[in-house]
Amino acid sequence: MRTIGVALLGLGHVGGGVVKLLAENAAAIEARLGARIEVRAIAVRDPGKGKRVVDVDKALLTTDIDAVVRRPDIDLVCELIGGTTEAKAAVLAAIAAGKHVVTANKALLAEHGAEVFAAADAAGVDVYYEAAVCGGVPIIRVLREGLASDRVEQLWGIVNGTSNYILSTMTETRRAFGDILKDAQQLGYAEADPTLDVGGGDARHKLAILASLCFGSAIDCDAIAMDGIDTVEPIDLDYAEKFGFVVKPLVIARDHGAQIEARVHPAFVPANWLLADVSGAKNAVYVQSYALGPSLYYGAGAGMLPTAMAVVSDIIEISRNMAMTTRPARPRPREARPLMPLADIRARYYLRFGVHDQPGVLGQLATVLGAHRVSIQTVVQDADREPVWVVVLTHEAREGDVRAALAEIDRLPAVRERARVIRIAS
Ligand code: HSE
Repeated sequence: MRTIGVALLGLGHVGGGVVKLLAENAAAIEARLGARIEVRAIAVRDPGKGKRVVDVDKALLTTDIDAVVRRPDIDLVCELIGGTTEAKAAVLAAIAAGKHVVTANKALLAEHGAEVFAAADAAGVDVYYEAAVCGGVPIIRVLREGLASDRVEQLWGIVNGTSNYILSTMTETRRAFGDILKDAQQLGYAEADPTLDVGGGDARHKLAILASLCFGSAIDCDAIAMDGIDTVEPIDLDYAEKFGFVVKPLVIARDHGAQIEARVHPAFVPANWLLADVSGAKNAVYVQSYALGPSLYYGAGAGMLPTAMAVVSDIIEISRNMAMTTRPARPRPREARPLMPLADIRARYYLRFGVHDQPGVLGQLATVLGAHRVSIQTVVQDADREPVWVVVLTHEAREGDVRAALAEIDRLPAVRERARVIRIAS
């Protein structure tokens, strides 16, 4: 039986999960693949480290990434280091040595995908990255293959498990943000730098990868508009509930033809949407495509075994490709369409104003909003405090108009606290 030689770069949670799955499922994988997958080297920072997620043969451990990726008995390199410096060098070295690559590294692909894929195409090797987006949910495979005959028009996703866990737990318990983040870190969902989770950076990397695949366009990841969930206060969750919404950490992408709309922010999601029920650390992507219509992909977006499962499935698929005489074509961005400026997006808005409860204030707010073409759908005033909250839900409006109105409102003498804004998903 053919044997595929694999090198793992990194033996943290995901690397440990890969070793475990390959060992536990070896017989089933061999039966499905008609080949054996063998881990022949594992690059780690400290081979002498005592406690690891899984026991491995110490003879496999090395610190020499350069030597590992060049070894003739290695067919495929699995990059599980993370970050964009060492990981990028390792991936490019592996490609240059003619090795196929599997990576779970969303930052690397979102920021340097064009360079990595160009190198892979030139070298005639595969780069697979299912685990980079939504962990174990096979959304990359769906977009690349399942919907290959369709045209994606738009998608809404919950792609950061930590943010979803925090907002879901805040919604259920009204506990403080910081406490819940600590829980998420202990549960192993959060990035090493949790500001990437709560600030939206992790979701932005994933959205750049998804939007590029959906719309066939290179996406400038750094230009994607992003708000973190750290601005959401418990009072906003109360209002969301009152108006029939749930606050979710969303990514949204739409094909507008000449431009692509892509944004990352917490959003009021109608309580009757399927995405409103995606709670805890779970991820989901709701895709609207021309032929299929709506479809939903849901599951564990983080965690050792779900993520390792996606990595091992990529190893299996590349191993299958290796047995083919013709290399399958890979979807690559065909163009680079610009992102729609944030000021031009259209949405409905939840606006919360802290104002003095005095005659004429409501009229002033409405006048400024109206002057900027922002139409009010609902307004409520919470009179149990001073300053009072005036909460407005708008009809659909242009973001630039809303921001101009808010800048003017923030300067009104009756306004005590700057307006808080959460976009409503539609
Ligand atoms: N920190 C990420 C999350 C892990 O919370 O979703 C998976 O990318």
